[in-house]
Amino acid sequence: MQTITLNNPLDMHLHLRDDNMLKLIAPLSSKDFSGALIMPNLVPPISTKDEVIAYKKRILDAIGYDTFNPMMTLFFKPYSKEFLQSVKDEISAIKLYPAGITTNSEGGVETIDTVALAPTLNAMSELNIPLCIHGETNGFVMDRETEFMSVYEELAIAFPKLKIIMEHITTKDAVKMVQKYDNLYATITVQHLLITLDDVAGGMLQPHLFCKPIAKRYEDREALVKIATSGNEKVMFGSDSAPHPKSMKENCGCAAGVFTAPISLQVLTQLFEKNNALDKLQRFIS
Ligand code: NCD
Ligand code: ZN
Repeated sequence: MQTITLNNPLDMHLHLRDDNMLKLIAPLSSKDFSGALIMPNLVPPISTKDEVIAYKKRILDAIGYDTFNPMMTLFFKPYSKEFLQSVKDEISAIKLYPAGITTNSEGGVETIDTVALAPTLNAMSELNIPLCIHGETNGFVMDRETEFMSVYEELAIAFPKLKIIMEHITTKDAVKMVQKYDNLYATITVQHLLITLDDVAGGMLQPHLFCKPIAKRYEDREALVKIATSGNEKVMFGSDSAPHPKSMKENCGCAAGVFTAPISLQVLTQLFEKNNALDKLQRFIS
């Protein structure tokens, strides 16, 4: 048996929800991880300084005695520079959702227009606040992420000093794009390193493997595994662990989200070992 020591493992994309669900699941992340980037898509989404502070407190209360650093985010909307200045020390990033693209994203951005969004994005750039993006169009489900590549490209060029994180990438096109511009980075989930659409819908439909973006083709998974296990500095682990009540997963009209927090670090370790890349795991998770 081999002992592996990991320093400061981080989950850079985590849904902790709220209320009873938060109390139930927060300890399942804090047992393995020393911190996480907390997604703001509550109902209503986190969009004021008071909401950030209060949600962080509820998270710390739910965790109890573990040492865990919840890195907070705001839900993207047009914010003034004054507001961003005042909230900057409380947040680690701002998360942009195209309107209606995924769970609780109805209040997201209708059109990603670099001119209309410039005041907020320039202010974020000046204040060094990273922009996390759920990068999907509302096109055909297998093409949504690829169709979004031109938006990433446009943003990367228009705001060269803004750190842009391509969240939960699932395609070989995204693997290429993240390496094309210095200011693009990406998170990768554990499920997208393990499964393809075949696992979700190729046999009996597997609602617990259904998430957005949906798992793609074998060649996409291969590109993701290759970059994740290579030690490449542009990609990092973000579980996108996204639990829903069982009644929302196992019904007619399944909510999107895969709940991986309790096992993600163990599964990643197995995957890196299988790929002879255990020495690259530390880089990926921290
Ligand atoms: C997430 C959720 O349930 O909040 N669902 C998902 O399928 N990944 C939202 C998200 O990150 O898209
Ligand atoms: Zn997510």
